[in-house]
Amino acid sequence: MDVKWASRIAELPPYLFAEIDAKKNELKEKGVDIIDLGVGDPDLPTPDFIIDALKEGAEDPRNHRYPSYQGMRSFRVAVAQWYKERFNVDIDPDTEVVALIGSKEGIAHTPLAFIDPGDVGLYTDPGYPVYPTSISFAGGTPYALPLYKENEFLPDLDSIPEDILSKAKLLFINYPNNPTTAIADEEFFKKLVDFAAKNNILICHDAAYTEIAYDGYKPPSFLQVEGAKDVGIEFHSLSKTFNMTGWRIGFVVGNKKAIGGIGKIKTNIDSGAFQAVQYAGIVALKNYTRGLDDRIKIFQERRDIFCKGLDEAGLKYHYPRATFYVWFEVPKGLTSKEFSARLLSESGIVVTPGNGFGKYGEGYARVSTTFSTERIIQAVQRLKETNF
Ligand SMILES: Cc1ncc(COP(=O)(O)O)c(C=O)c1O
Repeated sequence: MDVKWASRIAELPPYLFAEIDAKKNELKEKGVDIIDLGVGDPDLPTPDFIIDALKEGAEDPRNHRYPSYQGMRSFRVAVAQWYKERFNVDIDPDTEVVALIGSKEGIAHTPLAFIDPGDVGLYTDPGYPVYPTSISFAGGTPYALPLYKENEFLPDLDSIPEDILSKAKLLFINYPNNPTTAIADEEFFKKLVDFAAKNNILICHDAAYTEIAYDGYKPPSFLQVEGAKDVGIEFHSLSKTFNMTGWRIGFVVGNKKAIGGIGKIKTNIDSGAFQAVQYAGIVALKNYTRGLDDRIKIFQERRDIFCKGLDEAGLKYHYPRATFYVWFEVPKGLTSKEFSARLLSESGIVVTPGNGFGKYGEGYARVSTTFSTERIIQAVQRLKETNF
């Protein structure tokens, strides 16, 4: 039988990293020592107190059954308390929170709740690739809002054509931003609330990196702004804050009707996150400052090493005040793809080409500082020795 893929996956753009992965494996087989700075997946372990909570939760038979669709009430209460403490935002744990199996799961399912075929979904480019893909999966048309260096990597909301605005149902946005590391202040969020209210567009703010910030900076929540809950929702992840990428736990909060829509989709797709993981998540959120500064200090030290190396190599970058990435400009005369391919074959370093995050990422590359400090020092040394 000739198994045919549905057009929604057959038409997806080719996997950009396939070539890099093939080259990486070929070099590895030849014995080349590859330093992979590609993926944003912390090398540091999950703190012990969270692991202990998981063990305790796993031993409790009450947690072995199907979880509730919305997430355990105690988890939702912990989320609401964390929002109050961290952002001074009031969240109703009964109607304004849904637990997610990682924020990627929630983001990917969100357009199913708000996009009909023919609708437009707005998203920022370069950005997390799940935004446009999930809009397409729901039958919508993704429309990219470019993030340019000249605008501090914030979208120009006034530049969206009227016919796009009239069809747009939601906007995915993400600050602190992956991959550009840009940040947004409350002033920008205020503009976003006005824009959403005027055009009837649901703001879906991906706030995965609010807790990874440097030099004393504390990124705001979109929901801090007056009126934000009328027009938007916010996704959070425990992955980055607590080095818990493998645990698959996150949450979405905000507008009651929107949260209800996502909940409805999820009741038809999954059966919630393992309760022992939610239990560990409660302990993490209740003690969210425990060890956080120490973890940030490590990422900050690595950021500084990498940025100094880029300075010495004569490469320009956006100074990261948050996230564990560095977004830098590739040398003149090379495309992102050519630069990453040469860096890999000549120096054994893997970086993510900027166009992997969308067409407006062309001309850039991203490194992640989620690898050992020692390896980052070695990578910087190799980078400086490479002739472009
Ligand atoms: C911007 C952004 N949003 C969401 C996620 C998903 O995180 P998770 O599904 O682990 O919560 C990531 C992961 O890399 C990300 O970079």
